[in-house]
Amino acid sequence: MGKLSRDKRDVFYRRAKEKGYRARSAFKLLQLDSEFGLFENVTRAVDLCAAPGSWSQVLTDKLMGKQQQNEQEKLNTSLKEGGDLEDAKQGGTISERHPTIVAVDLQPMAPIDGVLCIQGDITSYETAQAILEPFENNERAQLVVCDGAPDVTGLHDLDEYLQSQLLIAAIKITTHVLVDGGTFVAKIFRGRHAGQLYAQLKMLFERVSIAKPTSSRNSSLESFVVCQNFRGGEKFRNLPLDGDTVLESDNIAPHIPPFFACGDLSGWGEESGIVMDADKSYPMDEKDFVAPVAPPIYQPHLAQEYQEKLKTKDTTQKQ
Ligand SMILES: C[S@@+](CC[C@H](N)C(=O)[O-])C[C@H]1O[C@@H](n2cnc3c(N)ncnc32)[C@H](O)[C@@H]1O
Repeated sequence: MGKLSRDKRDVFYRRAKEKGYRARSAFKLLQLDSEFGLFENVTRAVDLCAAPGSWSQVLTDKLMGKQQQNEQEKLNTSLKEGGDLEDAKQGGTISERHPTIVAVDLQPMAPIDGVLCIQGDITSYETAQAILEPFENNERAQLVVCDGAPDVTGLHDLDEYLQSQLLIAAIKITTHVLVDGGTFVAKIFRGRHAGQLYAQLKMLFERVSIAKPTSSRNSSLESFVVCQNFRGGEKFRNLPLDGDTVLESDNIAPHIPPFFACGDLSGWGEESGIVMDADKSYPMDEKDFVAPVAPPIYQPHLAQEYQEKLKTKDTTQKQ
């Protein structure tokens, strides 16, 4: 997070460090939540393209607290009804029995308590299978989020195409893990071909909206598509994972989703009503240095040194 001095003067970058989030993106999810109430009644979630993990951190904060509360309530009800404490606890808590939050990324991710981290490419069949595994004999997730972005080339058409391929993979996986009525949120580059994706998403979900949180820079092509009330059922559950479109049909009605500009920083220490500008550089005081939240686990400039260490270790072991 934040290699450039521009990033360091960015207010969301600084707030993220202060709050212990691994990336400034955390605020995008928080701002989307304040507009759409994403975490209401959610106890199981999937975070696609999750590294370095700030969305998973937000999910953990929001869902773990809620799940523990639900379990405590269940325990209290069972005890009130004359149940035995050990019987009530039998089988462990839900979080002990199966993971509540599954996070996936191409890059390795430093562990987060309560999150099952999978390393893999979401456009590959093997990774998709690995994501489905924890849900096979369990209840489906109520929320799937995807903040996936390919390495941006600066060629808008190419970037939009690569992003849409990632989004299509995410949608297909979502149809396997999302409960009917569930919510899907994903990053989208609003380019020339986004209309086709909106139309397909509108077939799968009752409500499709586009949102741009204030923490997302105006200079960035990105917005977020918020899809609510998954229609599911036989028709839309478990779509084939291969192929490069979501639904094979010529009969898909166009859809122009409503647009929402959302979020300010009130509630994060700013005076209510003040909207901080993600594109503006704010003066910073060097003495306010905050150490990195999650130092990189793999540092390319140290790759050679790392390989040599491995080789030395290998030869010592052989001797
Ligand atoms: C903007 S970052 C996500 C930030 C994350 N939401 C957070 O809050 O920390 C985009 C991520 O997408 C991942 N990504 C890109 N293509 C991918 C793919 N095909 N499969 C899995 N992850 C991918 C990248 O490795 C990168 O970590």
